[in-house]
Amino acid sequence: MDLQDLIVRTRIIDFIRVLDLKVFRYALRREFFLRGLPYAERTYFLATQDPGRYCAFGLAIRRITQEEVPGAFAEVGVYLGSSSKVIHRLAPDRKMYLFDTFEGFPADDLKGWEHKCGVDWSPETFKSSVELVKRNLGDTRNVLFRKGYFPDTAKGLEDERFAFVNLDVDLYAPTLSGLEFFYPRMNRGGYIFVHDYNNPEADRGVSQAVDLFFKDKSERIVEVPDAGGTVVVRRI
Ligand SMILES: C[S@@+](CC[C@H](N)C(=O)[O-])C[C@H]1O[C@@H](n2cnc3c(N)ncnc32)[C@H](O)[C@@H]1O
Repeated sequence: MDLQDLIVRTRIIDFIRVLDLKVFRYALRREFFLRGLPYAERTYFLATQDPGRYCAFGLAIRRITQEEVPGAFAEVGVYLGSSSKVIHRLAPDRKMYLFDTFEGFPADDLKGWEHKCGVDWSPETFKSSVELVKRNLGDTRNVLFRKGYFPDTAKGLEDERFAFVNLDVDLYAPTLSGLEFFYPRMNRGGYIFVHDYNNPEADRGVSQAVDLFFKDKSERIVEVPDAGGTVVVRRI
């Protein structure tokens, strides 16, 4: 699939979602998790694939702003930039790091897990590019791309501090290295979201990494009832 096909595919999916107005209006009235958000944000979140997930981001970012938690934002696992766009749109003045190979899953991380994945993890499926993500984001002010293998791409950021991190890398190894890198660099009150915790893919590699990491920490995970089985931790 080339770049143009990918662009067309994301546009068509977005268009179908927005057209589904009946579902959209019903959900807007009904969903309690939306009620704390301004109207523009509520409608925007509902037009996305996983409103539960994005509303959890929205409420967290609103709290970070209200409580003036300092620090940069980051996402590890960007793919086409769908979640990056929502996060950046809510806090366009924050520095935001986007980490991805932009060439799909690294072969070394997949070794031993590929047969347990249950989805097509070939590099072709998750092919993206910095250029494509820039186009999808629209506004790229304060966005810093870190292309390549994570955690190698975190080199040089040892003194950075964070307020919001979204880890969405699907596999055991990068989830664990993401927690190891970001946790000690989170400011008090900062949020770490981890996607796919309650997702059986890849032999539950994400939940294995999260459970191992938080075994000896003071914080506890909170499960988010979204489509992706997210968990969130707030730094004490
Ligand atoms: C499920 S996709 C991310 C989806 C995106 N957050 C969204 O919601 O639209 C997972 C991404 O993680 C990236 N990834 C996985 N392991 C990585 C690693 N060790 N270093 C860099 N990128 C990695 C893959 O290239 C892929 O684009």
